[in-house]
Amino acid sequence: MPDHPRIGVLISGRGSNLEALIRATRDGRLAATIAVVISNVADAPGLEHARRAGIETMVVCHRGWPSRDAFDRELAAQLAARSVRLVCLAGFMRLVGPALLDAFPNAILNVHPSLLPAFPGVDAQRQALEYGVKVAGVTVHLVTPELDGGPIVLQRTVPVREDDSAEALAARILEEEHRAYPEAVSLVLAGGWRLDGRRFLRGQA
Ligand code: GRF
Repeated sequence: MPDHPRIGVLISGRGSNLEALIRATRDGRLAATIAVVISNVADAPGLEHARRAGIETMVVCHRGWPSRDAFDRELAAQLAARSVRLVCLAGFMRLVGPALLDAFPNAILNVHPSLLPAFPGVDAQRQALEYGVKVAGVTVHLVTPELDGGPIVLQRTVPVREDDSAEALAARILEEEHRAYPEAVSLVLAGGWRLDGRRFLRGQA
């Protein structure tokens, strides 16, 4: 796939969204090449999905750097060295700092298991259930310095059921994440969009 744009995926754990991205590149829903998968956790199970798919993997541990900035610079350098155009966070449990944001302006995406701006941060599905919302969901957004706060590319809703547990709701949201993330990545790579303030718009100005 020589002409496909190259993406880099950052993970910290399970990697089911990474798997969804890999599947989408294989079945033609996502015209992209996953150039590298980087984990900040050495034994992240998601690394195995990448290896099985023949994708280059790297571990860049967040510990042991002189500063957080140095860690971010290393990530940026590794991604740039592989001509990555878009960075996809997929369960990457670190805040992205200025060195990485500046290296990939409006070119870092994240998937979050709530309808932002409701329930940012960890355990979003449980937060939503306990708050009592009737509709939960998924947000794919551009990454900015604010945690889970960047312009929204795409959202999908997931109804909350009366008998839901946090685990059951999270599982249904995850299924939706696996559809929404490849779709959003594809949309961003296709271009033809612009930002108007916080608004991600696909029409002409
Ligand atoms: C997903 O729920 C994602 O929305 C959140 O972290 C979780 C990662 O899951 N940011 P996985 O590692 O992709 O399976």
